[in-house]
Amino acid sequence: MIVEFAASAPAKVNLHLGVGDVRADGYHDLTTVFQAVNVRETVRLTVDTEAERVTQGPVVTGMSTRFRIREPGEDIDTEKNLAWRAVEAVAAEHRRTFSAPLPPVRIAVDKRVFVAGGMAGGSADAAAALVAANEFIAEFGGGRLTDDTLVRLGKTLGADVPFCLMGGTALGTGRGDDLVEMMARGEYAWVFINPGLALPTGQTFSRLDDMRHDNPALVPHMDTTALAQALVTGDPRRVAAALHNDLEPAAVALRPQLRRLLTVASEYGLNAVVSGSGPTVAFLGADFLKASNACNEILDNYHEYEAVVAAGPAEGAHVESD
Ligand code: C5P
Repeated sequence: MIVEFAASAPAKVNLHLGVGDVRADGYHDLTTVFQAVNVRETVRLTVDTEAERVTQGPVVTGMSTRFRIREPGEDIDTEKNLAWRAVEAVAAEHRRTFSAPLPPVRIAVDKRVFVAGGMAGGSADAAAALVAANEFIAEFGGGRLTDDTLVRLGKTLGADVPFCLMGGTALGTGRGDDLVEMMARGEYAWVFINPGLALPTGQTFSRLDDMRHDNPALVPHMDTTALAQALVTGDPRRVAAALHNDLEPAAVALRPQLRRLLTVASEYGLNAVVSGSGPTVAFLGADFLKASNACNEILDNYHEYEAVVAAGPAEGAHVESD
């Protein structure tokens, strides 16, 4: 018999991204405000109950991704995929805790978040995979890991994974993975535009470090008070006015085409920012009708862009039963 375990996790946008100094581990100290949005990745684990159980080594036999968005140039269905690594991390932790053999699993990802876009799509895959794998070990291995253990494993996979597990609106410090929930009223109508340019996260961070050597004006913005106050009002205009991303000048320096995209986006919305390390640009609409009209117009006028409307805040990773 084939048994399935499914979970989903949200993408994120950084309403504020303050980047401090580089730390000894190569990561930067951040003060960031995340909001989860309802563009979700779904991860399904399929298990053949008749298959021989694995007592050591990997449990994942393969994976496949179904793209609901533009496909990337390279194959992402490899052992390096964060969803794959997440399932192996849960299986290894399970072995340490319960020492019961597990049947092999296959992973299928339904991908809706832009690939390498600065929206934590890979981290959402990992978060959904952690939750699905926890269901799997509960069923076949006789016990489940605690939420705290999933967060700890998530941190080892990527700095955004804990937030994709948590969802909502949160302040992130440290590498961005020490989280506290923030007060936020209302629902926000986001539009995300992907210009389809590759922009690796690490490159954007190191470009900012280089730019700061020559330009003392590029100081870290670690104060989120204005944004926190705006979020309590629930007024998208106030939140839009408080959006800020320290990485934006670095992303624009690396991909000058982003300047035009930011101009287009701010004409359509209340205010636009580069999402995370880019290259996706996010803007806030006054309401969902305006956001969805703007999104359609952008898709009609700019064929090179992908665009999607999303609502925030959204729930963190959870089991999907369908
Ligand atoms: O943790 P994750 O794999 O998502 O990070 C990708 C890269 O982004 C890191 O290797 C690092 O270069 C950069 N980064 C950083 N500081 C952070 C988060 C990410 O420098 N707080």
